Amino acid sequence: MKKIIPAYLRVMVLFFIIFGAIEYFVDSGDRAAFIKYPIVNIVLVVVLVLLIAIEMIVSAADRIVYQILPEEEKAKIDAEDQAELKESLWFKNLMNKLTRTVPIENEAELLLNHDYDGIKELDNNLPPWWVYSFYACIVFAAIYLVRFEILGADNQEMELKKELAQAKIEVAEYMKNAPDLMDEKTVTQLTDPADLAIGKTTFETNCAACHKADGGGQIGPNLTDDHWILGGGVKNIFHTITNGGRDGKGMIAWKGTLKPKEIQKVASYILSLRGSNPKDAKEAEGDLWAEEAAAPTVK
Ligand code: HEC
Repeated sequence: MKKIIPAYLRVMVLFFIIFGAIEYFVDSGDRAAFIKYPIVNIVLVVVLVLLIAIEMIVSAADRIVYQILPEEEKAKIDAEDQAELKESLWFKNLMNKLTRTVPIENEAELLLNHDYDGIKELDNNLPPWWVYSFYACIVFAAIYLVRFEILGADNQEMELKKELAQAKIEVAEYMKNAPDLMDEKTVTQLTDPADLAIGKTTFETNCAACHKADGGGQIGPNLTDDHWILGGGVKNIFHTITNGGRDGKGMIAWKGTLKPKEIQKVASYILSLRGSNPKDAKEAEGDLWAEEAAAPTVK
């Protein structure tokens, strides 16, 4: 047995099992325990040294025992060491335990005393490997039955649904704190009065100088009519505010100054002015914008 798994492998396997167990049982949040708690490293080093020491002591002890054994015992151990895995005593014993086969020369003992046209029947034991697997299945089935049919644990479909729901919540949470993710493809029109009020403030501070406080237009075009030079709808307006108008016209890109969320609010505010027909508004410029045709689903 010892010869089959070399010492260095045994040390490594044991070490990683212990390492894994520590990571599993020590609650270290989203970081690995050995990074979060330096003490874990010390423990691991001690474990490694101990494992190596144990291996060394055991092999030294083995050698001493070997030296004091009588010659025929030594020969036995040598033979065992030299033997191939399949011929080793250890392996043979294991196989025998798992199969409990009766050697062919003793088969007569198993023979049942009936004979069907020359076909005879042996009464072999059920192989233990099979019997134990069968018992394991029974235990598994009992646990399964109680867990899923009686206690009603989630099946795979429910688990998936729950995970998806949870993921949705997490995405929403993430989006809340990551406003910069919004772009003209994902932007939606807001209708909440609180958002529009913020948009209005932004507009009056930054945009009124050219578009007038009521959006009627002055240097910049009228933003309350249905005509748009650069395209209407929240996505186009978002794009215009973010990237500016045509060169030399005076409408700068606001992306450095305003955050995407602010641009979304001010764009929504502009859209809320639609049809408000302010006094002394500028003549309509650009093309008549048909929302449905160009940007179908703007909520
Ligand atoms: C310096 C003057 C100026 C300021 C300040 C300004 N704009 Fe403009 N804006 C313009 C001009 C000029 C145009 C026309 C651009 C063109 O023709 O390409 C324009 C165009 C636009 C358009 C597109 C109109 C259309 O018909 O397609 C939108 C929307 C707009 N501005 C929104 C804003 C918002 C929001 C702000 C404030 C954050 C702002 N503007 C600030 C001058 C300005």
